[in-house]
Amino acid sequence: MIGQIWRLIRLLGLSRAVRMKRHHQQGLSYVRGYAATCCWWTLLQRGFLDRLAAEGPVSWRDHGRRQGWDEQVLAGMVEYLDGIGLLARRDEQVELTDPGRVLLAEPRGLIELLWAYEPCLANLPDMLTGRKQYGRDLQRRITYVGLGSGRLCEQLPYPVMRRMVLGQKARTVLDLGCGDLAFLAGLCRVDPEIRCHGIDFSPEMVQFDRDQLAKNDYQGRLTVQVGDMFDLPDLPADLPPVDCITACDTFHEYLQETPRLLEMFRSLRARFPTAVYVIGEFCLQDPAWLKKHPTASLEHHLFHQLSNQQIGSADQWRGIFRQAGLEIIAEQIYDLVGHGYFALRAAP
Ligand SMILES: C[S@@+](CC[C@H](N)C(=O)[O-])C[C@H]1O[C@@H](n2cnc3c(N)ncnc32)[C@H](O)[C@@H]1O
Repeated sequence: MIGQIWRLIRLLGLSRAVRMKRHHQQGLSYVRGYAATCCWWTLLQRGFLDRLAAEGPVSWRDHGRRQGWDEQVLAGMVEYLDGIGLLARRDEQVELTDPGRVLLAEPRGLIELLWAYEPCLANLPDMLTGRKQYGRDLQRRITYVGLGSGRLCEQLPYPVMRRMVLGQKARTVLDLGCGDLAFLAGLCRVDPEIRCHGIDFSPEMVQFDRDQLAKNDYQGRLTVQVGDMFDLPDLPADLPPVDCITACDTFHEYLQETPRLLEMFRSLRARFPTAVYVIGEFCLQDPAWLKKHPTASLEHHLFHQLSNQQIGSADQWRGIFRQAGLEIIAEQIYDLVGHGYFALRAAP
């Protein structure tokens, strides 16, 4: 090996050889990010990685055979993920490494959210040339929006919002655009008396929720239904009077239709006159700050731009709430992550 390196240096010159290596490394981080993410998605969505996390070493060949997977494709992915240090393979056995375990836990929501918006990325050339349009020709994967967002929000937004809900002594919570129900499930966990109901526009999302509720519905305290927040359906007959309305990352999808949002608030106020509101929303970050601190907000902005969603500033939200006749009882803005939380009630 040393002899080969020496020959290379003589052929290219030391500084050119070092520069080439450095530049390759730089390109490789992007190439590897893409290849690794595709392999990770594939094994994650089919439950293989969760099985490794739960059981430790497993025979990848046996697992693949039982699932009817192509052995060569699986062998390729296992070899690759072993090579880059996310899995450890010993003969037939494979297990998660420490970095693999980390990837499966904390940043999992990021990886799920990327999968949710992957159709935009896969169709970028056609979207650029106008052959395809978001909404008309392609959609994000809604269940993964809910899953990824639910998991990421567990890190900051939900704890803050739950504290606001409980601080208002809410007993019956209605969540608009409830996604995977993670927010409400957490409320049911921390408060054994609270009753929670979610509505979501997407039948696919609600079916996912119903499958989860079949395993645990917190003694019937957590329910869900398909519904449009702009035309709220009848709620379950046994639901006690709603005293708190929540929404996390639901309203910004309609920022370009502010009159619709205002009309929604008007009808919510007419139907639930004494309810308080706890709202979590994206708040625009300063682009100069983001350039200096290139956090995951950059990817998030990209997803939003590709799927015709807007991000409003904290001031824009305050203006909308004011126009909707709501006054702010409590507010927390986190510029670091581009998120804000508002507790509101009907202005006198
Ligand atoms: C970004 S996700 C947020 C999900 C969840 N609130 C969370 O914290 O993760 C937005 C959710 O709002 C739902 N949604 C969008 N428009 C809606 C509408 N008009 N009525 C009810 N739900 C809606 C979507 O189906 C999606 O599940």
